[in-house]
Amino acid sequence: MTEIILHEPLDMHLHLRDGDMLHTVAPLSARSFSGALIMPNLVPPITDGEMLRAYRRRILDAAGEECFEPYMTLFFKPEYDFDFLAPLAEEVTAIKLYPAGITTNSEGGVSGFDVETLRPALEAMSELGIPLCIHGETGGFVLDREREFVPIYEELAVAFPELSIVMEHITDAASLEALERHPNLYATITLHHLLITLDDVAGGMLQPHLFCKPIAKRPEDREALLHAALSAHPKVMFGSDSAPHPRHAKEAPGCAAGVFTAPIALPALAELFARHGKLENLQHFISLNAREIYQIDPPAKKVRLVDTPMQVPEKYGEVVPLFAGRKIGWSIADVEC
Ligand code: DOR
Ligand code: ZN
Repeated sequence: MTEIILHEPLDMHLHLRDGDMLHTVAPLSARSFSGALIMPNLVPPITDGEMLRAYRRRILDAAGEECFEPYMTLFFKPEYDFDFLAPLAEEVTAIKLYPAGITTNSEGGVSGFDVETLRPALEAMSELGIPLCIHGETGGFVLDREREFVPIYEELAVAFPELSIVMEHITDAASLEALERHPNLYATITLHHLLITLDDVAGGMLQPHLFCKPIAKRPEDREALLHAALSAHPKVMFGSDSAPHPRHAKEAPGCAAGVFTAPIALPALAELFARHGKLENLQHFISLNAREIYQIDPPAKKVRLVDTPMQVPEKYGEVVPLFAGRKIGWSIADVEC
């Protein structure tokens, strides 16, 4: 039997939703992760300290787990300024910027990326040491959207050199190249973008449970992402972008975007890293890099994974997970905190 013990695993991009859905999914992340960066795209989005504190309490209540830290984010608004953000700096781990209308519940996001319009908010974040997370896609042709956004990432990285900018859920080799050019650019990578390409989504019968934004790209993009993750690239962190939608919203005309991976992420990552002979680098991808980049100190937790298969349930509540009904080669043996 092969095993690995992961210390303080972190999911640096997670959608937990609210209400019943929050109660279904939060315990699944809290069981095996030590902390997660919680996305603010609720309806309405999280845009002030009161909403953020109340949401954090609802998450902790639903998680039912003491050693799990929800790292909270605000939904970026160009109106944010130093006076608004300064009192919140301790509670806000990052601010998430969505281009308006680009994905689920992003209607109140940013239209147009004029540096001068964004300057007061981004300078305040820079001064306060609050990282900016970005969903980097333009409104262009779907396969080109992330690549077309790269110049915007670069313009922001140069204009605000002290601001840490996280390119969220990157899917395109061009994003990795940009990462190398700017010291203040970082990135998260999902599990599904390490595993699938557009072929898996739409090359045969359409697979709604693999449909997400950004859409999975070409084999050479996946190879580049895989290389960065497996080699423990210090600027790359795991962020699942686990995005639960009820089955009826996925298996429908007008399929909602999002892949639900939270409960299977650690076994699937262990299997992937083991298959490539890189298990020793998983700790960096799953925790150490994020701790360094975000300067966070998550609650102590040890997760022991073994190469004993896990049978993935068909559903968790109303949500169909990645690999539903199939087996993954690895499983969680025990969790200590
Ligand atoms: O596939 C996605 N689902 N991409 C996003 O950016 C948002 C997410 C969601 O909230 O459902
Ligand atoms: Zn997301």
